[in-house]
Amino acid sequence: MGTPAKSGKPVHLTIDGIDVTVPAGTSVMRAAAEAGIAVPKLCATDSLDAFGSCRLCVVEIEGRRGTPASCTTPVHAGMVVHTQSSKVKKIRKGVMELYVSDHPLDCLTCAANGDCELQDMAGMVGLRDVRYTPGDNHFDPSGSGARSQSEARLRMPEGEANPRYIAKDESNPYFTYDPSKCIVCSRCVRACEEVQGTFALTIEGRGFESRVSAGMAGDDFLTSDCVSCGACVQACPTATLQEKSVAELGTPDRELVTTCAYCGVGCSFKAE
Ligand code: FES
Repeated sequence: MGTPAKSGKPVHLTIDGIDVTVPAGTSVMRAAAEAGIAVPKLCATDSLDAFGSCRLCVVEIEGRRGTPASCTTPVHAGMVVHTQSSKVKKIRKGVMELYVSDHPLDCLTCAANGDCELQDMAGMVGLRDVRYTPGDNHFDPSGSGARSQSEARLRMPEGEANPRYIAKDESNPYFTYDPSKCIVCSRCVRACEEVQGTFALTIEGRGFESRVSAGMAGDDFLTSDCVSCGACVQACPTATLQEKSVAELGTPDRELVTTCAYCGVGCSFKAE
């Protein structure tokens, strides 16, 4: 959601028919939250700067063309926002369908089952079916068998595996990295930079081939600049980055949070 604007001239606007007053500079998503309206999101969090990459938080604004991301759009006086129009609901469902189409469908055995934002958002937007085949890009919306150039470009060459499906990186003693579960929201990359100031992570590749990478090509987490602060693990909305204790013991019933003197991230230690 980005950092809330704490000062600034009050701005009055209307969101889903509710009058809201927030400081200038506040995002539409934050203003909606102030009014008790939850807008679906995946790349935005309370602790990271707004990024606008997942496109799940789109809204309609009267007098403005398109469907802007509410997390990166600042409020303006007199703005009239619709967060639940049929148009934005359809867009969000389509976006979620694409995320899920490229994601392993192993929720029942996944360590993050019940504690996964991708799962939560699929429920929130009402996704029930995925028309795409997992792992390939052979969807033909017309049913005619014809594919556009851009669709053809997305296909992996015959016999080549998607680089996203490389083996799990278990080199770090505290957490695992499973690229097949990554939705490339870049929350981990931003947490590494904004929270820890380490710059150990980056996104490499494009489209279906894009993935989070620790350091230079060939590095794993252990040999990269990662300092094992855990900021990336806490920021991850799926089971891509997973504490080893959670993977082995399951999601705990309660969570103790403490801040260690070393880095001040506020590492979360979970216990049953
Ligand atoms: Fe706004 Fe991702 S939450 S674009």
